[in-house]
Amino acid sequence: MTNSTQLPCLPELPESVYQLVDYGNGRKLEEFSGILVDRPSPVAVGTAVTELWQRADGRFDLQENHCGSWVWERELDDWQLPTPFGKMGLFPTSFGHVGVFAEQLPHWEWLTTLPLTGLKLLNLFAYTGGSSLAAAKAGATVTHVDSAKNMVRRASHNAQISQLDDRPIRWIVEDALKFVKRESRRGNQYDGVILDPPTYGHGVSGKSIWKIEDQLPELIDGLRQIIPVCRLMLYTCHSKGFTPSFMKQNIKGFRGPGKAQSGPMFLQAQDGRELANGNFVRWFQT
Ligand SMILES: C[S@@+](CC[C@H](N)C(=O)[O-])C[C@H]1O[C@@H](n2cnc3c(N)ncnc32)[C@H](O)[C@@H]1O
Repeated sequence: MTNSTQLPCLPELPESVYQLVDYGNGRKLEEFSGILVDRPSPVAVGTAVTELWQRADGRFDLQENHCGSWVWERELDDWQLPTPFGKMGLFPTSFGHVGVFAEQLPHWEWLTTLPLTGLKLLNLFAYTGGSSLAAAKAGATVTHVDSAKNMVRRASHNAQISQLDDRPIRWIVEDALKFVKRESRRGNQYDGVILDPPTYGHGVSGKSIWKIEDQLPELIDGLRQIIPVCRLMLYTCHSKGFTPSFMKQNIKGFRGPGKAQSGPMFLQAQDGRELANGNFVRWFQT
């Protein structure tokens, strides 16, 4: 696994769909389907360059408890983002998220181009379903796992608005590690995995705590049991210290192709500057 590749910055999507307009001074200004959003970004170093910030439709500010509040200048009726597989519903959350992490868009594009018919894939920490739906569009049978019931509901709604609700997707509300251990005990196997583990998280109803440095090794061990030959790997991570080489080390020992792509994920601002947004390792073997 040697290839280090910088992901292309949303090449196939028209600018009006998603655009990082500007960033700097710890904030980013993004356009999602014509709605201009101004929110904090710890990696947005340097100075903002445009005057467009004053025209933001929504602004999010953090408070002390990691949550925060939005101020909106307009109604958000049926706010949706066109994607390579269909559409994603957008919605403001108390964490300052909008239901889509735009740095995943090139991965979704990649997934939709792969011949995945007949493959059984597991998507862990699957959030609002972008990767599940892209893989399902490409023909895969997908098991979508996330511990947040409302996010799984959003994902299944995204399947409906993308006209992918007839695809073989199992929607599971469960702690990722518990689910993988159970699948291992039952002898269920998969052909590949998509995983985007957060730094911190919770099991269902906050019952268990996920800490990436404590639980990831056990999760990866479990995945090795249930994926005898890993034909598809899409591992993305935003946690501090999870560099491409460290991430490749994490997943060593999976039987798959000799070569993987890996590197940083970026969003490219209108003036060409690149805002780093985590790292990835991925491969596909026909
Ligand atoms: C960063 S988001 C993943 C984003 C997703 N890959 C995407 O771009 O669409 C992290 C997700 O992990 C989920 N999560 C956190 N802890 C979890 C756990 N222990 N088991 C399963 N899911 C968990 C959260 O509910 C959240 O949806």
